[in-house]
Amino acid sequence: MSSILLDVAGVRVHFPERGGSWFGPRRTIRAVDGVSFQLERGESLGLVGESGSGKSTTARVVAGLQTPTAGAVRLHGQLFGPRAPRSVRRHVQMVFQDPYASLDPRRPIGWTVEELLAVHGLLKPRQRRLRVLAALDACGLEALYVHRYPHELSGGQRQRVAIARALVAEPELLVCDEPTSALDVSVRAQIVNLLCELRERFELALLFVSHDLAVVRRVCEQVAVMYLGHVVELAPRSQLFDAPRHPYTRALLAAIPRGDPEHPAPHVALLGEPPSPMHPPSGCVFHPRCPRAGDVAGERCAREFPKSVERGDALVACHLDQP
Ligand SMILES: Nc1ncnc2c1ncn2[C@@H]1O[C@H](COP(=O)(O)OP(=O)(O)O)[C@@H](O)[C@H]1O
Ligand SMILES: [Mg+2]
Repeated sequence: MSSILLDVAGVRVHFPERGGSWFGPRRTIRAVDGVSFQLERGESLGLVGESGSGKSTTARVVAGLQTPTAGAVRLHGQLFGPRAPRSVRRHVQMVFQDPYASLDPRRPIGWTVEELLAVHGLLKPRQRRLRVLAALDACGLEALYVHRYPHELSGGQRQRVAIARALVAEPELLVCDEPTSALDVSVRAQIVNLLCELRERFELALLFVSHDLAVVRRVCEQVAVMYLGHVVELAPRSQLFDAPRHPYTRALLAAIPRGDPEHPAPHVALLGEPPSPMHPPSGCVFHPRCPRAGDVAGERCAREFPKSVERGDALVACHLDQP
């Protein structure tokens, strides 16, 4: 079998404008506008970019929670999505940002973690319980937690429960959408360490959405940078952080605080806010904010959408990065 686990090909997700206008046609929000990438077994890919760039929507498509408007997601070569059989869907599990919202407050933890197995009719009750205890244990939670309720737990413990709930299905791919952003700074590192540990132990592939580049650098072997519904650069970690090629990637990296007041980061100013995905700019969607678009290929940047091309081990979508 090929080593390609996940194939995301030309995925678009367009939403009708919320509320919309009473008159005239409802406009379209281009949340994801032609995203492609692949994940090998056990590989970890980080998805970074400003808020509103389409990271969560991409994550939901990959987790089979959202049907794409166009394009396809394949798991082991088979079409994957909300309509895929349950036996296939369980191979991809998702961990959400907010463990306060993602756990049922009326159910004890044991029930929450077991739910998926019960729904799928997997295993006999006794084996199910053993699997639940094993998943909790792998997430650093003792057996007594099965009787506890979410309100009795801290944020970090709740996120551990959410991870245990995902693990119990024995997935091949874990999709994590900002899994630490809702947590206290003091427990973030523990959850990141736990995810790294579990990945190795269970040979899990990981799609890891985060706006924290330092965490992505620690967790992910590959990094995809999203801007306004597009992946503008996709590269192995070392190449992306040491030799970023796309002007947007450079600007993002320059914005990381270095914690050194003597040598503040050379700030590449990103002018203004990202444009609305309802009115994406013509040509390269980044050109109105690009510090380099005026340089050479300026006119082309405003006119023509740049295709992703291979540059070393990276894929870069920029007219200014042509051979
Ligand atoms: N269900 C929805 N209906 C309408 N618009 C949505 C919906 N979900 C997301 N969007 C819009 O799609 C764009 C991308 O959102 P999202 O994927 O959440 O980005 P990110 O996770 O990078 O912040 C945003 O402009 C957001 O407002
Ligand atoms: Mg998001």
